[in-house]
Amino acid sequence: MEEKLLSVSSAWKKANYPLVFTGAGMSAESGVPTFRGKDGLWDRFDVEKAAYLQSFLEDPGPFWKMARELVLKKEVNPHQGHRALARLEEEGYLQGIITQNIDGLHQKAGSKEVYELHGSLDKLDCLDCQKKYTWEEISPDVEKGEVNCECGSRKVKPRIVFFGENLPREELDRAFFAAEQCDFLIVVGSSLEVYPAASIPQIAWQRGARMALINTEQGFFPEMFDWVFLDSAERVLVELEKKILGGDQK
Ligand code: APR
Ligand code: ZN
Repeated sequence: MEEKLLSVSSAWKKANYPLVFTGAGMSAESGVPTFRGKDGLWDRFDVEKAAYLQSFLEDPGPFWKMARELVLKKEVNPHQGHRALARLEEEGYLQGIITQNIDGLHQKAGSKEVYELHGSLDKLDCLDCQKKYTWEEISPDVEKGEVNCECGSRKVKPRIVFFGENLPREELDRAFFAAEQCDFLIVVGSSLEVYPAASIPQIAWQRGARMALINTEQGFFPEMFDWVFLDSAERVLVELEKKILGGDQK
């Protein structure tokens, strides 16, 4: 591990345009379940019923039951890996984070340049009367697994991307543009199964970027990565930050 940490941190320090690409595994150590891999949500919930736009429009119930697991077990906070990335950005070692996550933990940790390809949970709209809500306003209802608008509609939809829905065009274009400039990319905690998000690392790779993977399970596009850490996001990112910024960050 030590030797790999040294070579990755030295490549990271030399990079002109380093990026990080994160998936649900980045938030696992903050207590947010992943969708796939060990104990993944899609083993416990029917993805067709819980995450497809058409199903949500017919019956939002399954989505809210899954959402209750996703971020509402307890107050969800960034871990030291999120904070390490925020500090590395502050010190000029990170151009941005392209994330598939909807939990807002990168921003909560202080990261500024975050591309949320799949949107975020913090704002919601009633699809019938267009009334706007914040997650805080509706979170007590989510506990009950049912969210209703004042107008009586059950279609209070978070601004996240459901399967069958387009990704936010501007965010996606910015992420593609960043990936084309990228000369060093770390993929953290993603199964790289969902497109177009999963094409971001491919673009960087085709552009000739040096590529590192941090994932507790292995076997994701091994040909794409110069370094693979079969380890947890928090542990590796904290160690990499120490190598790059030196010392023990609090
Ligand atoms: N550290 C690093 N990796 C981890 C950790 C951890 N602590 N825990 C789990 N992982 C890995 C798993 O091995 C898995 O490969 O994180 C990955 C999570 O994969 P997914 O759950 O598929 O998450 P993601 O790739 O973000 O999914 C993409 O699918 O359901 C949709 O819209 C949803 O944005 C999501 C998209
Ligand atoms: Zn309404």
